[in-house]
Amino acid sequence: MRVLVTGGCGFLGSHTCEFYAKRGDQVVSYDNMTKYELKRTGYGSDKARDYNWNLLSGLGVEMVRGDVRDFEYLLENARGCDFIIHTAAQPAMTISIEDPDLDFSTNVLGTYNVLAVAKELRVPVVYCSSIHVYGNAINDTLIESDTRYLRTPAEIDESHPLLGGLVTPLHASKRTGEIYLQSFVDTYNIEAASFRLTGLYGTRQFGGEDHGWVANFAIRSVLGWPITLFGTGKQVRDILFAPDAVAAFHAFYETRKPGVYNIGGGHAHSISLQECIELIGDILGKQPAVALKDKRLGDLWYFICDISKARTELGWQPKVAPKEGVERLIEWISDNQDCFQL
Ligand SMILES: NC(=O)c1ccc[n+]([C@@H]2O[C@H](COP(=O)([O-])OP(=O)(O)OC[C@H]3O[C@@H](n4cnc5c(N)ncnc54)[C@H](O)[C@@H]3O)[C@@H](O)[C@H]2O)c1
Repeated sequence: MRVLVTGGCGFLGSHTCEFYAKRGDQVVSYDNMTKYELKRTGYGSDKARDYNWNLLSGLGVEMVRGDVRDFEYLLENARGCDFIIHTAAQPAMTISIEDPDLDFSTNVLGTYNVLAVAKELRVPVVYCSSIHVYGNAINDTLIESDTRYLRTPAEIDESHPLLGGLVTPLHASKRTGEIYLQSFVDTYNIEAASFRLTGLYGTRQFGGEDHGWVANFAIRSVLGWPITLFGTGKQVRDILFAPDAVAAFHAFYETRKPGVYNIGGGHAHSISLQECIELIGDILGKQPAVALKDKRLGDLWYFICDISKARTELGWQPKVAPKEGVERLIEWISDNQDCFQL
């Protein structure tokens, strides 16, 4: 089989390419390689920028430098593919607020183009949406315990109201992608799914304060740099190890049940920022220094996915528990410290 992965040199995209390449499939990574986020994290070394490109080239992945906003070039590179996984995005809330043009063109036009290609070629497609589409009104329903926010019921399913509370450009662009996807399923009968992804983490995540908080904490802890927490540090996510998300993509390919799915770790994988820092400290044998700053506009303080729908419809469930996943992330960071030098 031949698989096109947009954003193939990103964090999730690279794990997706690796999975299919190791199965022996033909894989095309389609990424514009601007690596915008790296300029902000400060991990701007050549090694960090080229890390996934070099790794995937070595696995025989066909590497294309292309932009999802360029419909013709995307179509040309998608020809002959059996499955498209659309991970290319502007993924950060902070950047969407600072640069709504970039957010709109990448997330809305880019996603529209991917859907249009899937329609033209009659190829199944998964789009990476986000739990952010539920909105920040969830913040108003929380109780504060010593180390985390709590909520009843703890898990949130796909029927939860959307875009509650303050709407930022990221909320708008991610939800718009979902609406277009639904319109293409309903109108043109394409086989497509929106995955509302929770906080992902794993090896090859060059996480910073904008995006990828588990890796941000782990990188800073390994390198002995202080961590900044925006807000109380009691924010909660049901973190998901990247290869588990990739397994969900493949589960959709096999089952082809269009729709919207929460893809997260569920309650068993829930952890607060404070608890995650403590876990990292326990693994490293030294607790990192933490500074608190004011909460940020748009931050969602709590999300734990109810993943019953993905379990039932896709036959999928997460496998890697946070402790094991964070240990694997820390091992990778420790082995690649030169990537993170300023
Ligand atoms: N990482 C998470 O915790 C998380 C959580 C929820 C949703 N998601 C979603 O999952 C997807 C993947 O996230 P990620 O963490 O791997 O992000 P990432 O930033 O690591 O990867 C995105 C990749 O897309 C590429 N890209 C950006 N604009 C492009 C364009 N115009 N054309 C082609 N390529 C372009 C970038 O170069 C990058 O390699 C995104 O849609 C994101 O919103 C991620």
